[in-house]
Amino acid sequence: MAKTIDTTLPLLCLLLILLASGAGLVSATDHIVGGHLGWNPNINYTLWSNNQTFFVNDLISFRYQKNMYNVFEVNKTGYDNCTMDGVAGNWTSGKDFITLTRPGDYYFICGNGLCFSGMKVSIKVIPLPSPPVSPSHSPSGHSPSAAGSYRTLLAGVFAIAVWIGFWI
Ligand SMILES: *[C@@H]1O[C@H](CO)[C@@H](O)[C@H](O)[C@H]1NC(C)=O
Ligand SMILES: *[C@@H]1O[C@H](CO)[C@@H](O)[C@H](O)[C@H]1NC(C)=O
Ligand SMILES: *[C@@H]1O[C@H](CO)[C@@H](O)[C@H](O)[C@H]1NC(C)=O
Ligand SMILES: *[C@@H]1O[C@H](CO)[C@@H](O)[C@H](O)[C@H]1NC(C)=O
Ligand SMILES: *[C@@H]1O[C@H](CO)[C@@H](O)[C@H](O)[C@H]1NC(C)=O
Repeated sequence: MAKTIDTTLPLLCLLLILLASGAGLVSATDHIVGGHLGWNPNINYTLWSNNQTFFVNDLISFRYQKNMYNVFEVNKTGYDNCTMDGVAGNWTSGKDFITLTRPGDYYFICGNGLCFSGMKVSIKVIPLPSPPVSPSHSPSGHSPSAAGSYRTLLAGVFAIAVWIGFWI
């Protein structure tokens, strides 16, 4: 009996380490709008968003000079015409983090007329990859296949844990 415990404890420690490292690798990405250029007039944010892959639970964050600019979430009509159509939220802190909680299209504009100077960004958020991952595009940030293989690894680790539990 003592011998069984001697081999089980190190295995459980290994299991915990693998779980911790796996959780770290599938964490959410923070997409900083405009990168080092931030949220300012006269930047083409379509070029920026085309170069990102947004997954559910990722963050989009806006960095800008507070009191000069702001952020409104609107719908496509609002985005196309720089109006408040379909307004769904507003942020003013100068360093705003917005969690992308659902898949689909999101539209953000600056609310004080500077939308007409290019302060508008639209993004498409896609669901998280599911365990049997097919090879897919990943221009930046996340690596769906890496996430998928870690899930497979975790599934294996759980299977081993159940097996150990069964035999002790
Ligand atoms: C921004 O870039 C996109 C993609 O190249 C282009 O279609 C669009 O016309 C540009 N927008 C402006 C305002 O220049
Ligand atoms: C697109 O993203 C890559 C990697 O994140 C970066 O090196 C490149 O400069 C980006 N291109 C543009 C146009 O932002
Ligand atoms: C605003 O954009 C929509 C498309 O999203 C378009 O159909 C409409 O004509 C535009 N103009 C106004 C004033 O809503
Ligand atoms: C955006 O919201 C406005 C006002 O609620 C609505 O009239 C319009 O149809 C919406 N546009 C889209 C594309 O859903
Ligand atoms: C901005 O959001 C707050 C709630 O977060 C709301 O009370 C306020 O009316 C909004 N302002 C505008 C102009 O939509």
